[in-house]
Amino acid sequence: MRIYWTFLMVVLGGVLVVGFTDHSLPEKIDSPAGLGKMLFNEKLLSKDSSISCASCHLPTHAFADTIALSVGIGGKTTKRNTPSVLNMKNRPYYFWDGRAASLEEQALMPIRHPDEMGLPIQEALYRLNQQAVYTQLFNKIFHQPANAKNLAAAFAAYESSLETVDSKFDDWGNRLSKLSASEERGRQLFIGSKAKCFDCHWMEDFTDDGFKNIGLFNGKNLNDSGRFLITHNKADIGKFKTPGLRNIAVTAPYMHNGMFTTLEEVVDYYNDPQKTVPDRIAIDPSLQKPLGLTDREKKDLVAFLKTLTDQRFSVAAKLSSK
Ligand code: HEC
Ligand code: HEC
Repeated sequence: MRIYWTFLMVVLGGVLVVGFTDHSLPEKIDSPAGLGKMLFNEKLLSKDSSISCASCHLPTHAFADTIALSVGIGGKTTKRNTPSVLNMKNRPYYFWDGRAASLEEQALMPIRHPDEMGLPIQEALYRLNQQAVYTQLFNKIFHQPANAKNLAAAFAAYESSLETVDSKFDDWGNRLSKLSASEERGRQLFIGSKAKCFDCHWMEDFTDDGFKNIGLFNGKNLNDSGRFLITHNKADIGKFKTPGLRNIAVTAPYMHNGMFTTLEEVVDYYNDPQKTVPDRIAIDPSLQKPLGLTDREKKDLVAFLKTLTDQRFSVAAKLSSK
C-alpha cells in the first residue's frame, strides 16, 4: 500500500493537487461561506464578547495559534494545542481525539465550551437574531432566522473553502518548479523507509486520517490519553489523530500539547523518542527503534516540510522564523 502511494505521490502528485481548483477565500458575504467567515471573526459568539474563533485560529498563522495552549474567555486556557483549520474539508473526523464527525457537529462545540467561548447556543442565536445585519444575511441565504442548523452550516461552508494547494511542493508536483537539493533529499527521506514519515503522513494533505501513538503519553507528566477518552478501548491509549502537515512551518508550537516549538525539535524527537520520553506507553511499532538520522538528514527533512507552506502564508513563515 505504501509503495502504491509513494508511486502516486511521485508520479501523479501533480494530478492529485490539480483536482482542487477553487482555493480562494470567499469574498461574497451573502453566501454560506461568506457568512461563515464573518461569524468566524464574531466576538459576540462568546459569553463576554471578547473571543471569536479567529482569536485562537489565527488567519495569519494558517488558522492555528502561536502558543502551546490558547486563552479563551476569562483567561481560561484550553487543554490542548489549537490546530490549524485549513484543509479540513476531507477529514473524516475532527479534534485531536476525533470526537466530532463533521464540521457541522464540530462548529457549535467551541461556542458552548466553558474554556473557549462559554455561550449556550440559544443565547448565541438570540444575539445574532438581534442584529439587523445577521437577520438580513440569514434570511437571504437560508430563508430563515439564525438557528443551530444554519449556523453550523455557515461555519462548515467557510471552513470547507479553506483548502490550500499553492505551495512550493504543489508547484513541484505540477512541474512548475524544482525543489532545492536539500528539499529533494528531504522529500526522499520523508517517503522512504529510514524516516518513515509517509507511513502516517500521506495522501494529499499528508495525513492517513488515522489515530496513532507516537510516544507522547506516559500517564505521568504526559497524561492526555487522547482517543482512549472517547472509545475507552485500551488499544487507543495515547493515540491522537495524525495531523495533516500542509503549512506546518507556520503553525508552531507542535503536537496535541504544543510541547515542541520548532520543526527541528519535532524531527529530533522522531529520531529518538526514547530520549525525550523514556517511560512512554504503547508507542507505535514503527517508532520503537531510533531512526538514526544524520544531522544533514534532519536538516533536509525540515527543508522539505517547509515546502508545504501555501504562498499566502510564506511571508508570515519568514517573519516567524526570524
Ligand atoms: C479558546 C481557543 C479556541 C477558540 C475560541 C476556538 N477554537 Fe477551535 N480549537 C481549539 C482547540 C484547543 C482545538 C483542539 C481541541 C481538541 O482537539 O481537543 C480546536 C479544534 C478545532 C477544530 C478541529 C481541528 C482538527 O484538526 O480536527 C476546528 C474545525 C475548530 N477548532 C473550529 C473552531 C471554530 C469554528 C470556532 C469558533 C466557533 C473555534 N474553533 C473556536 C481552540 C479554539
Ligand atoms: C506512527 C505514525 C506517525 C509517523 C511514523 C510519523 N508521524 Fe508525525 N504525527 C503523528 C501523530 C499521531 C501526530 C500527533 C501526535 C500528538 O500530538 O501526540 C504527529 C504529529 C506530527 C507533527 C506536528 C503536527 C502539528 O500540527 O502539531 C509533525 C510536524 C510531524 N508529525 C512530522 C512527522 C515527520 C517529519 C515524521 C517522520 C520523521 C513523522 N511525523 C512520522 C503520526 C506519525
